Amino acid sequence: MNANLEDALNSVQAVQLGILGLGTVGSGTLNVLTRNADEIARRAGRPIRVTRASVRDLSRARLCDTSGVALTTDPYEVIDDPKIRIVAELIGGTTLARELVLAAIRRGKHVITANKALIACHGNEIFAAAEKKRVIVGFEAAVAGGIPIIKAIREGLAGNRIEWLVGIINGTSNFILTEMRDKGRAFGDVLKEAQARGYAEADPTLDIEGIDAAHKLTILAAIAFGIPLQYECVHVEGITKVTAQDMAFAEQLGYRIKHLGIARRGVGGIELRVHPTLVPVRRIVANVDGVMNAVLVKGDAVGHTLYYGAGAGADPTGSAVVADIIDVVRALTLDPKNRVPHLAFQPSSLAGSMPILPMGQTETACYLRLHAEDRPGVLADVTRILGNLGISIEAMLQKELVKGETHVPVILLTQRVQEAAMDQAIANIEALPAIRGPVVRLRMETLS
Ligand code: NDP
Ligand code: HSE
Repeated sequence: MNANLEDALNSVQAVQLGILGLGTVGSGTLNVLTRNADEIARRAGRPIRVTRASVRDLSRARLCDTSGVALTTDPYEVIDDPKIRIVAELIGGTTLARELVLAAIRRGKHVITANKALIACHGNEIFAAAEKKRVIVGFEAAVAGGIPIIKAIREGLAGNRIEWLVGIINGTSNFILTEMRDKGRAFGDVLKEAQARGYAEADPTLDIEGIDAAHKLTILAAIAFGIPLQYECVHVEGITKVTAQDMAFAEQLGYRIKHLGIARRGVGGIELRVHPTLVPVRRIVANVDGVMNAVLVKGDAVGHTLYYGAGAGADPTGSAVVADIIDVVRALTLDPKNRVPHLAFQPSSLAGSMPILPMGQTETACYLRLHAEDRPGVLADVTRILGNLGISIEAMLQKELVKGETHVPVILLTQRVQEAAMDQAIANIEALPAIRGPVVRLRMETLS
């Protein structure tokens, strides 16, 4: 470092930071802050020092160097310390985390969090409290791990009317789907590996049932469209029902199954949905594998933009937490009125009346897999049902009859159709005596 700059930085007081939680993300954050301390001080204009951290179990070995950090099991020792100006909430969950974040705000602390569940479910309350106390709540790490997607949408695309965004926003699910497809591994086995690598949530149901992705989509939609956080309006499906068989059929038809979060301005409102989706193999998003995330954003002025990077893990998430910390340090001397609004739009301008469309009114193309009796007339009955509801078939694949079987798998790809019409079609097809078992329906997006 340049000697003059070093002298100048040393002459200003370090900003003191307290961390709640030193697990995967907390350790990653402390490691990044320690390893890159000089670079960070040069960027922030002042050194940043972690002086206190709280954990649940003091005897647990840490994946970071905690020398110089006073460790406690009482998070209030951290937020009550008058010298600490910024508190990083890296515990997770929505009960204790909400209580601590609101308590820190009441004490006038700036807060950084990686907790998407907290922001999606209680963000409206938290941001209102923060605005009252004129403190910042940073949440870059809450969406897409290390990708600076909040900053990109909130600031980089601020001149645009965002039309839609589509993202692979759960690293654990993407890791599982990739390993199942590429290596034929079993779902449960890959999930265990994702947990061991620190990708999964404390309760991995949040990952595999799509809830974590829905939390993130809630946040992205709010900052993209200027609407309040409305987690309860997201249609949520996870990856637990995706089979190796459907992955193989999709590949034969030129598609790959990805777990996507989709937010789109529709005719009568906004679509908010999270589900496994067939994407053409030639699209970049179809080739985002493992724990990597990607978010494709369409703005009216900029066109398509794509953001890619590690969606989970200690250092990538630490990178996002530290970026928020630096932003707060830079803003310490700024008039609060001139700060970037938490949800990108001025709080008084959030469009609470913009409706979120019920799933039945959304439109997608579909992949259907059915088990049909292998005799003449059965497929004609199926296509008649679809035709009567105005659903056009794009492609069809019928597998050969296996010896000793009476039914064959049939795969149909349809054109875009309203979800409610497809629900009706599926019910009618399942009622045919020649169809065995439920019809599998996966949505498709061309992303063109
Ligand atoms: P971990 O489970 O690895 O760490 C949680 C930390 O919080 C631990 O240090 C734990 O203490 C402490 N803690 C847990 N419960 C309590 C409690 N009741 N009282 C006090 N301390 C407690 O979680 P992660 O680091 O993976 O996740 C933290 C947050 O970051 C979550 O909101 C998660 O959704 C989010 N996130 C995680 C990412 C990842 O890749 N893992 C990526 C992006 C966001 P102890 O260590 O003693 O048990
Ligand atoms: N469990 C989350 C995921 C962590 O797998 O994407 C990152 O938010």
